[in-house]
Amino acid sequence: MKTEIIPLQAETVQNLTERRAPVHVYQEIDSTNEKGRQLIMEGAPSGTLILAEKQTKGRGRRGHSFYSPESGLYFTMLYRPENEEAAIAKTTVAAAVSLCEAVEKTAGIACGIKWVNDLYLNGKKIAGILCEAPRDMHGNLPGIIIGIGINVSQKEFPEEIRDIAGSLNQPDLDRNVLAAALADRLMYWLERLDSEELTERYKAWSAILGKEVSFIMEERTITGIATDINADGNLIVEADRTYTLSSGEISLTSWQS
Ligand code: BTN
Repeated sequence: MKTEIIPLQAETVQNLTERRAPVHVYQEIDSTNEKGRQLIMEGAPSGTLILAEKQTKGRGRRGHSFYSPESGLYFTMLYRPENEEAAIAKTTVAAAVSLCEAVEKTAGIACGIKWVNDLYLNGKKIAGILCEAPRDMHGNLPGIIIGIGINVSQKEFPEEIRDIAGSLNQPDLDRNVLAAALADRLMYWLERLDSEELTERYKAWSAILGKEVSFIMEERTITGIATDINADGNLIVEADRTYTLSSGEISLTSWQS
């Protein structure tokens, strides 16, 4: 059965969300995060959404590209925080929780977060998050660019990611509804970045707590059990000693489901 893809429409998303900031929709764009950078420098308001049907230069973390063909949802929200420090530390955590909640609400599926910010379903990555904090020419932070890419109705992937990539495959999933739900959950959590509730929700959605994980530190692969995530979003791993992993410095090389 061929899945019919409902086009993204700015007006539809706007009518579905509680927030009133502008929504921009592109048929094709290099990167919604790149557009976000431009708009935030030009003074676009907090909450502005940039959505695309397709990206030609989708950006991932650590300089990787993000495969972004038609049918996926490429989502960027601009955020002008009052408390810069808390925002830089916790925006990714808020984005991951918001994404799980929006997917559960619109697709009826419970995903899991692989620390720090990949969304997994049945052992495959279905979404990634890239938050960027660009500085202006005076070194000030005009805002944070929250970029989220979700694979939707995707059957084929390039060979390099075929073994790890998965997709949301609900035939009747409307990306307008998903985008609106994600925007609303983000607005909710961005106002509660310091809350214990956010850390608790993040832990509840974690796919790795209690599991065996590996990471590389000083050229050594360390394997242990992921036991906790603290209030700063650091992962606690018990191995030959207790390790407190910060997302900026270390990522997991493997985890066992
Ligand atoms: C990752 O998994 O490494 C993060 C991927 C983030 C991809 C999203 S798609 C929307 C936004 N625009 C981009 O260029 N990147 C992010």
